[in-house]
Amino acid sequence: MGHLVLVAAELQPFLAPDQLAGLDVTWLPAGAPTPTGDFVALVPLLSRWVGGTELKHLPKLKIVANCAVGHDNVDVVAAELRGVMVTNTPDVLTDATADLAWALILACARRVVEGTELVKGGTWTGWHPELLLGIELRGRTLGLLGAGRIGQAVGRRAVPFGMRILYTARQPRPDFEHDTGAVRVERSRLFTESDVLSLHVPSLPETKGVINAETLARMKPTAILINTARGDLIREEALALALEEGRLGAAGLDVYLEEPRIHPRLRAAPRTVLLPHIGSATRETRRQMAAMAVANLQAVLKGDPPLTPVFG
Ligand code: GLV
Repeated sequence: MGHLVLVAAELQPFLAPDQLAGLDVTWLPAGAPTPTGDFVALVPLLSRWVGGTELKHLPKLKIVANCAVGHDNVDVVAAELRGVMVTNTPDVLTDATADLAWALILACARRVVEGTELVKGGTWTGWHPELLLGIELRGRTLGLLGAGRIGQAVGRRAVPFGMRILYTARQPRPDFEHDTGAVRVERSRLFTESDVLSLHVPSLPETKGVINAETLARMKPTAILINTARGDLIREEALALALEEGRLGAAGLDVYLEEPRIHPRLRAAPRTVLLPHIGSATRETRRQMAAMAVANLQAVLKGDPPLTPVFG
């Protein structure tokens, strides 16, 4: 008999039988509670909370192989205390997520959604020199809050658009600076100087609500805010208010505080492009994410070190 493992049922189409060799898989649908039992590994989606209670109910668990780069759905401290490995899926989703951040930047800057609505609504009356004027990106400043893998990939894509790049990060990124001309600054400068501000920090106690009434007030009234990271970085009501009152240019969002619920005021706010958390949603990337999660699990069950641990 193979190792007893729990794998998110939604990943089944992305996994081939040879990847699951030696495993006795119970497919766990997103809506189902995490069961109790002798399972040695769990591959959850990012929508499944894995905390102290779940870990207690799985006393034989060795690894939580999260199928996401973010791991804020796992109580990593509780897992570490219990001796349970936690792994994520970095790198494979960097390009897909950076591409989507750029889809949001361009959609906001050039009012793509408003244009589509005008045409589809049958109310377009023809070419007009002042119709849906947007902002030109060349010469503007892209601010990156966080310059890890995805932040840097977003920054590298800004070079051919002729943008100046500012970033914040705990450590300087000399290669990134060399390749793109990016300049590391204090957060306060990032907020005041960015024409486009894109968020690329993980969800941590110190980053939650980093975009709030006070920081929004420091941003240019024409600025575009982009979030492909995690919803809890933004105080959604404060953002809605800034958009309603014309204190922010636009917001392009892929993630929200309480997905799939979106703060009603934010959903109704003007000048937004709102996507349903599809940053890594390409066929190639989703296949690679599932493969990486399962490869982590197979390594640990064989007694090898995990490929992409999130701690130690
Ligand atoms: C997606 O949001 C991820 O963290 O992989």
